[in-house]
Amino acid sequence: MNLRGAMMTDKMEVTPWTVSQELKDTDYDRIADEFGAKRLNDEMLERIRGFTGDLHPFLKYGIFFAHRDLDLILDDYGNGKRFYLYTGRGPSGKMHLGHLLPFLFTKWLQDKFNVDLIIQITDDEKYLFRDIDQEDISRYTDENILDILSLGFNPDRTHVLVDSQHSGLLYNNAIKVARYITSSSAKAVFGFTDSDNIGKFFFTSIQAVPAFLLSELKGEDIRCLIPYAIDQDPHFKLARDVIPKLGYYKPSSIISKFIPSLKGSGKMSSSDQNSGIYLDDDPKSVRKKLMKYAFSGGRDTAEEQRKYGANPDIDFAFNVYRLLEENYGKVQKIHEEYRSGNMLSGEMKSLAADKINEFLAVLRTNKERVSKDVSSYMFDPARFE
Ligand code: TYM
Repeated sequence: MNLRGAMMTDKMEVTPWTVSQELKDTDYDRIADEFGAKRLNDEMLERIRGFTGDLHPFLKYGIFFAHRDLDLILDDYGNGKRFYLYTGRGPSGKMHLGHLLPFLFTKWLQDKFNVDLIIQITDDEKYLFRDIDQEDISRYTDENILDILSLGFNPDRTHVLVDSQHSGLLYNNAIKVARYITSSSAKAVFGFTDSDNIGKFFFTSIQAVPAFLLSELKGEDIRCLIPYAIDQDPHFKLARDVIPKLGYYKPSSIISKFIPSLKGSGKMSSSDQNSGIYLDDDPKSVRKKLMKYAFSGGRDTAEEQRKYGANPDIDFAFNVYRLLEENYGKVQKIHEEYRSGNMLSGEMKSLAADKINEFLAVLRTNKERVSKDVSSYMFDPARFE
């Protein structure tokens, strides 16, 4: 097996800081195989449904497509043993819709299983990996936390762990992880070279800690399930090797594909405002971005579109609509209308713009509410039962 997350082919690169944007379903199959993750097959989906009653659309659509040891989480849960969820965000700018994907899914898991959730905010990470200063990161940290909490996580069971604010708790555990990671394995997994700063080599130890922190604090083994998109997998592949050496369970994970950028290629990046939909975009700019820049799976002319139909699967507007429309039947209907040529690209874009604007309006209202009691969500060991 090829250990190095960075080493795919020239076109297919997957590390926490680079993901080739033109990944197709077959590429994802290969990545899952090479990374040693399992596909979420029908049998596993049925097992999930057995506990949750229904399946989240991201599971039905294959957006969350792979896992590691999810079966062990479900075994424990089925036997009345608790588990907890862990996910995170590395603030470096405004959040876009892609960043929300794991959080939307995590919220569903939290609601269905009624479990604790640790949200790690790695406000040290991007300082080490990008050219950004600490003041800017600090500003984005506050903003991003509110954006995430505006999704409506259970306040009693949600614990926001900010690296710089909880360093006492993190550091002593991170060094336990660091002791087992050699620089050659960090190079192999992340593709570092001798000219990378040494903070980068250490950083993965910090991201590993929340995956066993609850077990450490409670003095009992509690399984941890981590939802994330494929770019984060190298961290957890390494963490799974090390954490059992500290006497804890290997963390489990559930892994999603990447949402491509608005323009269909290139990364969504805050330096290019038109590369994605950002959470603070106003209704007018959302509509304009979609109309002007969104990559379309439709035909060049309305006539051709009516005759041959579109390819919704590669269409940005359809894909985002599908993420936000909870009514599965409605999504199927729009897919068929668009595919068959009954619907034109402009109509698809307009429908997506309405859906996005409706979603962002709800987030804005919620954000105002959570901003009043954000401190009650902060990580505090005493809050865990
Ligand atoms: P960050 O801030 O780069 O991304 C936050 C989460 O969003 C996912 N993601 C995407 N998902 C779908 N489509 C996209 N275009 C897209 N872009 C980003 C990421 O996989 C991530 O889940 N190091 C992490 C922060 C972190 C973390 C964690 C993430 C700390 N602990 C535990 C997941 C789980 C980071 O910088 O994520």
